[in-house]
Amino acid sequence: MATDTQGPTVSDVIAPPVAFFKPPSKSLPRPRNLDDVTKGLRAIFDEDNINVDEVKEYLSSYRAKVDDWKESAVFDTHRYTRNLIDEGNGKYNLILVCWGEGHGSAIHDHSDSHCFMKIMDGSLTETKYSWPSEKKKRPMNVTDVTAYEKDHVAYINDSIGLHRVENRSHTNKAVSLHLYSPPFNMCQSFDERSGHKVKCNVTFHTKYGEKVCYRKQQ
Ligand code: SIN
Repeated sequence: MATDTQGPTVSDVIAPPVAFFKPPSKSLPRPRNLDDVTKGLRAIFDEDNINVDEVKEYLSSYRAKVDDWKESAVFDTHRYTRNLIDEGNGKYNLILVCWGEGHGSAIHDHSDSHCFMKIMDGSLTETKYSWPSEKKKRPMNVTDVTAYEKDHVAYINDSIGLHRVENRSHTNKAVSLHLYSPPFNMCQSFDERSGHKVKCNVTFHTKYGEKVCYRKQQ
């Protein structure tokens, strides 16, 4: 993780990501499984302009089943894993995120991308924060805390704020499907106590089922 603190200021992030506002265009059949979801998303993202509500509605129309994701799910004892399952013709990354008991993400932004999160199994809690002051170190401001159950679809972008996602269960794992558009490989994470931010590489545990090895930079 780099410690370069260059990044968007609060005023940089007020505008939502571009090119996502247009009326719904496709009427796709309800997806029966994750393969259908992958194909349907490819069709939706074939267009240059995508409607956020259309993507949310499409993901909501799918009823997740364990059989759909169990082959792609890889859990780690120590932290949640990010498993790439589709690159959406370069327009988005579709990722299966596997959360062990008590696992959670850091507070982070989304590099000016759209983030859709569908709960595939278990329950996840999203805590939203406003962007911290660039000038003063102070505890970050929580704007919302919501627990999502299976099949719920949540959405965030940098104009809405920052978030962290946690599996607060001590007894159950959780699985979620994330779509990030456009894809990004760096984001910023934030210290809740001070608002201090650092740049982070966004990595994958697996890509299309293959374990990814990242060499440490010398
Ligand atoms: C991740 O994409 O690394 C985790 C999910 C999130 O907190 O947005």
